[in-house]
Amino acid sequence: MSTNWETADILKSPMEICWQFDYDIDSDKLKNLYSKGKQAQWDAERDLDWSTPIDPSRPLIDETRFGLEQLDFFQAQPKKNREAFRAHMTAYQLSQFLHGEQGALMTAAALTHAVPDYEGKLYVATQTMDEARHVEVYEKYVSKLAMVYPMGTWLKKLIDVTLTADHWIKIAIGMNMVVEGLALASFHNMRRRTTCDLLRKITEGVLRDESRHVAFGNVYVGEGIAQLHEDDREDIADFAFDAVKVMAGMRERGSAFGGDPGFLKVLANAEIDQNDLLQAVSEARAEGRSIDPPSDQIHAFKDLMMPALVRVGAVTKRSRERFAEADIPVWEDPSILESLEDSETGTLEFN
Ligand SMILES: [Fe+2]
Ligand SMILES: [Fe+2]
Repeated sequence: MSTNWETADILKSPMEICWQFDYDIDSDKLKNLYSKGKQAQWDAERDLDWSTPIDPSRPLIDETRFGLEQLDFFQAQPKKNREAFRAHMTAYQLSQFLHGEQGALMTAAALTHAVPDYEGKLYVATQTMDEARHVEVYEKYVSKLAMVYPMGTWLKKLIDVTLTADHWIKIAIGMNMVVEGLALASFHNMRRRTTCDLLRKITEGVLRDESRHVAFGNVYVGEGIAQLHEDDREDIADFAFDAVKVMAGMRERGSAFGGDPGFLKVLANAEIDQNDLLQAVSEARAEGRSIDPPSDQIHAFKDLMMPALVRVGAVTKRSRERFAEADIPVWEDPSILESLEDSETGTLEFN
């Protein structure tokens, strides 16, 4: 084995590691999540049919599902450019899933070190294994596509901030609420949008695991926050605000994914001029035309992330003012979130 240090990136963590010698279990909810986590392990090598042909030059996502395709500018592009855009955009999005899953693998492992309860450690160990399987399955799939794109700068920043946080509750907020809120929405939308059976099956398997991960955030983090001193709770609330702000910054830069180098490479590979595209996006916005994806898609902020943060007490009276100043609405309705977490997402029929 020879480590490739050129592709490695080293971070330092101030996290406290916690032994726990009280092996009594007093949270049945966590114990149940641990049991389900153990029983629901699937195997990308054993349970999926990798002989399914994948043509990376053909769109793997229903073309009507890309928000940008609603632009007249986009429709005026030559067919070959539009097709190249879909193929590369799919590779870009799935590459973000791949890198994000590696981040999830490491944050779950860090939680295993840091959470102060025995049943908490057992549960996050299952999440660590889940995330390892997710990295594996997306790597296997992405390697069949046009190319592997680099990790988006905003996603890297968000996960780095989470990985180098000094308290386990911050890690759980950054990963199990913010990043996984985003991921859960993307996976659900991908499941609806994809035209590839193998990708749909992968996404369903991942979703089934993710529903436990989001439920963990609710079950465990809420109790952790309730036990904190008020000053520490405000520190957590500031972390939650900052994490959401990183995400909001990404959204503000628009559906064109801002100046993310990976996205610019998608455009270059599709021979679409980035300045022309940005101009078309701002014109559409100025005229009040929507370039959002279809409305049946789940909205990460509104439906998942913000309600999850509010529910566990990570948004305080004081931090609400920060959200208001930053013009980020504090959505509170948890109904979609609750319908997604720890629920079987349809019947999974692996081969
Ligand atoms: Fe995952
Ligand atoms: Fe996860």
